[in-house]
Amino acid sequence: MKKVLITRKLLRSNEDRISKIWDANLNLNDEVYSQKKLIELSQGCDGILTSLTEKIDENVVKKLSESVKIISNFAVGFGNIDLKATKKRNIVVTNTPDVLTNATAEIAMLLILGAARRASEGLLHAKKKNWKWSADFLIGKQLTGSRLGILGMGRIGRAIAKLAKAFGMEIHYHNRSKLNPDLEMGAIYHENIKSLFSVSDILSINCPATKETKHIINKETLEFFPTGAIITNSARGDMIDDEAMVQALINRKIYAVGLDVYNGEPNLYSGYLNQPNAFILPHLGSATKKTRTAMADLAISNIEEYFKTGNCKNKVN
Ligand code: DGY
Repeated sequence: MKKVLITRKLLRSNEDRISKIWDANLNLNDEVYSQKKLIELSQGCDGILTSLTEKIDENVVKKLSESVKIISNFAVGFGNIDLKATKKRNIVVTNTPDVLTNATAEIAMLLILGAARRASEGLLHAKKKNWKWSADFLIGKQLTGSRLGILGMGRIGRAIAKLAKAFGMEIHYHNRSKLNPDLEMGAIYHENIKSLFSVSDILSINCPATKETKHIINKETLEFFPTGAIITNSARGDMIDDEAMVQALINRKIYAVGLDVYNGEPNLYSGYLNQPNAFILPHLGSATKKTRTAMADLAISNIEEYFKTGNCKNKVN
């Protein structure tokens, strides 16, 4: 029987499946393992099912047990794993695309709505019961007729575009390459971020975290936006220079932000906490029972496929 380390607690039905097929080291207390502990626990394992909370950098990859042949990440994003280092050691890395597309697109719409319609302030007032209706109370921005810029038009970006169209938004996007018209569905392509940002009344960040996209939103690029733009991020915190962003919120260049992901999660940049125009959520993108179950199922199937065939269609390295 293959031995597999599962780094975080999964939903019951997924753990039941795992227990039937592998000699599994489950994490029933859901402890977030240190890198040192992860290395220790990898001894004798054929595979590891990881989550985004484990940083599998070069140093960790070097020290993982020789027996480890696959790391199956329980996420579509895999910025937490050093792909080059794993490739060098012949460790296959897989992710969980598709199954979380709709749940993440829903959260992206929540971020857009929450930021545009001042939901953070609204919640506070409602709970404190210190408000009265008036014609100009908590006036926000309407989505209908506004321009949505999508940075990264992959599966999730395209699902957001579909939902946003139903809200009457005009869709613009930037991607490494222009999409075919059938995938574009009327969205307007921009060859560079300056062009995209300059027409984005609202920007939704949906690109992967790479060296090239790190701090793509910074002091200089924030200037490209129309004054009063809204920026939302449901991808990874790496894309935003938080200090520059908070400054832009303070000086009203940016009207509001909607964030689900952060640099150094869960310790989000404290500057956001004092900003009433920051609508912030604790990384809930894929957090529905249906999606989390499907993600773990796929992460398990990826390992099974690899054990059976020596390959896997969701391999990313
Ligand atoms: C992903 O799959 O990358 C999500 O952020 C996990 O919640």
